[in-house]
Amino acid sequence: MLEVKSVNKSYGRRRVLDDFSMTAKRGEVIGLVGENGAGKSTLLKILATLSKPDSGEVYLNGKSYRKHFKAHRKRIGYVPQDIAVWEDLTVLENMKFFARLSPVKKTLPELKGLLNNIQLDRHDTKVNKLSGGMKRKLNLAISLINDPEFLLLDEPTAGIDLKSRIEIGEFLKTMAVNNDTLIIYTSHDMSEIKEVCDRVVVIGQDSFYREILADYIK
Ligand SMILES: Nc1ncnc2c1ncn2[C@@H]1O[C@H](COP(=O)(O)OP(=O)(O)OP(=O)(O)O)[C@@H](O)[C@H]1O
Ligand SMILES: [Mg+2]
Repeated sequence: MLEVKSVNKSYGRRRVLDDFSMTAKRGEVIGLVGENGAGKSTLLKILATLSKPDSGEVYLNGKSYRKHFKAHRKRIGYVPQDIAVWEDLTVLENMKFFARLSPVKKTLPELKGLLNNIQLDRHDTKVNKLSGGMKRKLNLAISLINDPEFLLLDEPTAGIDLKSRIEIGEFLKTMAVNNDTLIIYTSHDMSEIKEVCDRVVVIGQDSFYREILADYIK
């Protein structure tokens, strides 16, 4: 359902994505790994329709991003590497705010349910009182409001404690299976990647990840 074909992306003279291609289908959890600066976030932004490749094309369900990015955007959930939530609003107010922007309407109990699914129970706490890991969880809950069929997560477990990380990993696996969601996510924690992902895609030229994750690259 996802096809990335020969994508190139440069910033100035620096080529970050060099003829990058991959395919993926619904129900898969794919780990995107590579060293710092390899281009993982750049690729996720392109897949989230928030940035355009210089050349090459991305297709979702056979329809190109170039022509159909507005329709695709409605089906995509994206958690950026830099947390993007309103600091002066409470957890629940953030959910309500983003729910208003969503093409899929959600009731208040449904919004609370999304928070409870990932064990974020401080619904009436202002975001600026939350820890970094809790903010990340909130960002994840926000990305699920539109019932995405394609979920892109840029380091969703960075700074999150071990117990919550395991819970989020389990949650993502279950979601891929139950909702037939395609999930692509980045992490620098290789044991987590091995535990959560069906398969790994390495980005960049460095052979280090290809060697240590050889069994997971299918
Ligand atoms: N908006 C931008 N303008 C200029 N250069 C950029 C921009 N965004 C990213 N880069 C550069 O592109 C390269 C890839 O960055 P990217 O954020 O995609 O890497 P990454 O694999 O996500 O790294 P990390 O593991 O540190 O998150 C880096 O050299 C970065 O400095
Ligand atoms: Mg990154």
